[in-house]
Formats: sequence, C-alpha cells, structure tokens
Amino acid sequence: MKINQVAEVAGYLWQKGWAERNGGNITVNVTELVDAGMRALPALSEPKAIGAVLPRLQGCWFYCKGTQKRMRDLARDPMGNGSLIRITDDCAHYEIVADAPVAPTSELPSHLSVHDWLLAQGSPCRASLHTHPIELVALTHARKWMEKDAATRMLWSMIPETKAFCSRGLGMVPYLLPSSVALAEATIRTLAEGYDVVMWEKHGVFAVDTDIMSAFDQVDVLNKAAQIYIAARNMGFEPEGMSDAQMRELSDAFGLPK
Ligand code: 13P
Ligand code: ZN
Repeated sequence: MKINQVAEVAGYLWQKGWAERNGGNITVNVTELVDAGMRALPALSEPKAIGAVLPRLQGCWFYCKGTQKRMRDLARDPMGNGSLIRITDDCAHYEIVADAPVAPTSELPSHLSVHDWLLAQGSPCRASLHTHPIELVALTHARKWMEKDAATRMLWSMIPETKAFCSRGLGMVPYLLPSSVALAEATIRTLAEGYDVVMWEKHGVFAVDTDIMSAFDQVDVLNKAAQIYIAARNMGFEPEGMSDAQMRELSDAFGLPK
C-alpha cells in the first residue's frame, strides 16, 4: 500500500540526516486508488487556494505531508502527520478529506504543479519528493557546481551507477523563495528540459518517480556520488573521475542517453 511506503521512506530521510525538524515533503497522486466510498466523504476543510490553476488535476486526490510536520513522526503515523486532499472542480483549490484536517505542506504549489505537468506529459510518475540531502545542498554553494551540467558530469563520473540510474542528470534551479509559485514554475521548466532530478540552490532536491521509493533511490544515488567526491577531497586529492571513454562505454552497454 502506497501510504506504508511513504512512511518507510520518511524514516529513511530522517536516518540519512536529510530531514531536520519539518524539513522536506512528500506528495503522492493516489487518484487511481480512490473508490466510490471515498469519493462520498465530506470535506474536513473549506476549499483553500493552491496559488495556481492546474487543469489536469480536476478531481485528483493526493496524500501530502503536513506542513510543519516531522518526517520522523510521519514514519510511525503517516495519517497523523499528513492528509488526503482532493482538488476542486475549479482546479484552483483543494479540500482536506481524511483522516484529520492536517494542513498540507507549504511546498504544495511546486508539488501540485509538477503533478499537473506529469499528467500532461502522459508520465507514469505519481510520487514527488523534496528533501535536504547534506552533500548535494553543499555543492550548490559553489558557482562552479551551479553551472549547467557541471555537477551532473562530476557526479556521473564518481561511480558508474549514478549515470545508470540518473541517466538524464541533475538540473539546477538558482535560489528562489521556498514555497513560491516562482519556484514551482522553475522546477517544471527544469524537468521539461529533460532532467531526472531538480536541485534547488542552497535548499534541497526535488525528485519525481513512479513511486516514492524510486524517487528516494534517485536522490540517494546522486547524494552517494557527492559523498564520494567529498571523501576524496577530504583525503587531500581531487578525484580522477571516470574517463569520457569509460562513460561512453557505460552509455553504450546500458543503452543510456548520450
Ligand atoms: P513543510 O513543513 O511545509 O513541508 O516545509 C518543509 C520544507 O522543506 C520547505 O521547503
Ligand atoms: Zn525544503
């Protein structure tokens, strides 16, 4: 069941040190699981504005982490630290339906805008994850790694699995106010450029995938590569990185995009 998987991932985020206090958020489009009985449930809240009009989300249902709720609490009680919401017919508001009126994450504009965009693309992705992985966030404090594809190339070259599992790389979004519609729009623009995962400068990552475990795996793989880079630097040398020829060989062997 999807909510159990969300709780499992929330526990990993805490264990990794990526979820201080209420840091990070998760949403899952659960519309396909909603039955007639659930559809008949009354709203627990007044309709609240999303901040954007998202036409493909009409009538869709989402599990959302609650704003100001902790991942470590969500891990043992997902419905006490998150809620189910449904989008109203005007596509601009949501109402909370279950289990309790827990207000959804402040990053809802980014999450819902991305879900709307995914549906428009015909994408099978239904889960989105925002988290604060230490080493990836640290990289964004240097201009060098914010340059287009510089971090992607470095991370891919640290260990072959990075390109194998994040073959379209990490897109960089310059700093924008957390929870803003501008951040939501920049996130979609970056996903539309074809990247797997989006990096929010000096803040965190945003990943989408078919389910929340796979979204977590993408961030885990990228952050592992960043840790290898930093471990080498801490040992006093610049890591060599895999060569261009080795990267080409890997791409050919696994049919990865060039
Ligand atoms: P919420 O507690 O509202 O989900 O915010 C956490 C966060 O990481 C904001 O970027
Ligand atoms: Zn955040």
